[in-house]
Amino acid sequence: MADANGLFVSFEGGEGAGKSTQIRRLAERLRERGRDVLVTREPGGSLGAEAVRHVLLSGAAEIFGTRMEAILFAAARNDHVEDIIRPALVRGIIVLCDRFMDSSRVYQGVTGNLEADYIEALQRVAVNGVIPDCTLILDIPAQIGLERARKRASAVEAPDRFEKEEMQTHEKRREAFLDIAAREPNRCHVIDAQRSEDQIAADIAGIVEKLLETGATGTATNPEAAQ
Ligand code: TYD
Repeated sequence: MADANGLFVSFEGGEGAGKSTQIRRLAERLRERGRDVLVTREPGGSLGAEAVRHVLLSGAAEIFGTRMEAILFAAARNDHVEDIIRPALVRGIIVLCDRFMDSSRVYQGVTGNLEADYIEALQRVAVNGVIPDCTLILDIPAQIGLERARKRASAVEAPDRFEKEEMQTHEKRREAFLDIAAREPNRCHVIDAQRSEDQIAADIAGIVEKLLETGATGTATNPEAAQ
């Protein structure tokens, strides 16, 4: 592995938490400070993964069951990691990713009722040692998040396969993200996403800039550190 190591930041949370806005704001701020930033998303982010994204979000893979969907998310993730994320990190770029492995743990694992062992085995293969240095979990009550997401969706597009589910399922996902944060406090930061856009952006910038200053980067491409 090359010496130069970028910073890998993933953004997680339920629907309507404002991830895309915050990713855009952080990217702008870092670029203004002369940093090289790559913004990407999952499912998708690479040629192969974008093809799989359509299959997953349209609901076309739903008939094959949750287990198969989890495999497809993992396949897409591996393509994204090897084609886009790892090469960028090796070049010293800051990678901001809209959703990553924790979404599979929550959506396929917890609310998809798949065994944690199964999900973890898939994740090991999918990420192949590339674990985020930092994961920002944008936390918002399901009801509020869904209302926001639906307003946005009715203006642009129909709800996707995962947005259509019941309120209870969305609330369960929120709890599951908070559980991950409690279990991995070094990597995960919970951000209260009910506050103003500016307050949230300031919090996020504080966390990421501190990581950059302290040089606590580079675990992302080191398989040993990722175990
Ligand atoms: P997307 O349109 O990217 O929206 P958002 O991130 O704003 O919700 O939708 C991605 C959907 O895919 C979202 O409902 C969560 C789901 N998803 C999974 O179920 N598992 C995964 O591993 C990932 C990355 C996403």
